[in-house]
Amino acid sequence: MLETTLCGLTLRNPTILASGIMGSTGASLKRMAEAGAGAVVTKSIGPAARQGHRNPSVIFHGGGVLNAVGLSNPGYRDFAQEMETAREGGVPVIASVFGSTPREYAEVAVGMEGMGAAALELNLSCPHAEGTGAFFGQDPDRAGEVVRAVKKEVDIPVIPKLTANVTDIVEIARACERAGADALTAINTLKAMAIDIQTRRPILANRTGGLSGVPIKAVGVRCVYEIAAEVDIPVIGCGGVATGEDALEYLMAGASAVEIGTAVATRGVDVFAKVAAEIEAYLRDHGISSVKEVIGAAH
Ligand SMILES: Cc1cc2nc3c(=O)[nH]c(=O)nc-3n(C[C@H](O)[C@H](O)[C@H](O)COP(=O)(O)O)c2cc1C
Repeated sequence: MLETTLCGLTLRNPTILASGIMGSTGASLKRMAEAGAGAVVTKSIGPAARQGHRNPSVIFHGGGVLNAVGLSNPGYRDFAQEMETAREGGVPVIASVFGSTPREYAEVAVGMEGMGAAALELNLSCPHAEGTGAFFGQDPDRAGEVVRAVKKEVDIPVIPKLTANVTDIVEIARACERAGADALTAINTLKAMAIDIQTRRPILANRTGGLSGVPIKAVGVRCVYEIAAEVDIPVIGCGGVATGEDALEYLMAGASAVEIGTAVATRGVDVFAKVAAEIEAYLRDHGISSVKEVIGAAH
């Protein structure tokens, strides 16, 4: 009833762990799979070790989370053991990759494919790391270049993750599709800021960061709806999913699956099993035999 497919991958249910939350070690990725996720995405991995931004880098804010972690990671060469452990979870492990040039994205992608990644999610959307992430995803030509460079080198599905911090996300989605993307993820965090009125200074050491969680859900649903209407490849919805109802909104907007990040912190690691059960209850109540029947229903 809950099984869904995504560019050749079969997911036992449409919930996926989003990149950056519990995705830095093989053990935590495996735990998310055991907690019920249909697939898991690693923390974004780059060509070399990277420390990220100074603390404070993550705060609860306005019903969501504001973060400027800054893509801290060990570099892909040191991630092989983590991938091996993660794969013991028995669900597809999607590797999130980034670089500062299209060639670097391709280098990391090839490395992660060799470590058994089931697919690659290209981080074209991090709003708080200079010269990568949204630097590529805010320009259709640059986004297309990265996708082409990676597609030339790997055989597994390539899934660019888009940012809503643009005037027209559909233009970027179309550029990625033309460049050969197999699916798209929308959206990453929204660029945002919080100020401590006592110290009169920004709270995050990086000053700005990315907002996630419930406050961004309506933006994510709008983006998925617009993209799904204009492209022929599958879309993964992301942003503010905490309940089965949230997931169903994304599915009806046209998503084939949803990623869950912040709600792992707010609802607990069994959020995947809970969301899946809530989707199933809705389907039963409405006499629907497969989750695939609600995908795109709002169009
Ligand atoms: C602490 C934190 C770290 C994140 N790190 C990454 C990352 O490394 N790569 C990435 O593509 N997205 C990253 N994200 C964004 C999430 O994957 C997701 O797109 C975003 O949080 C919206 O989903 P949510 O509302 O379910 O959290 C991060 C988010 C948070 C809160």
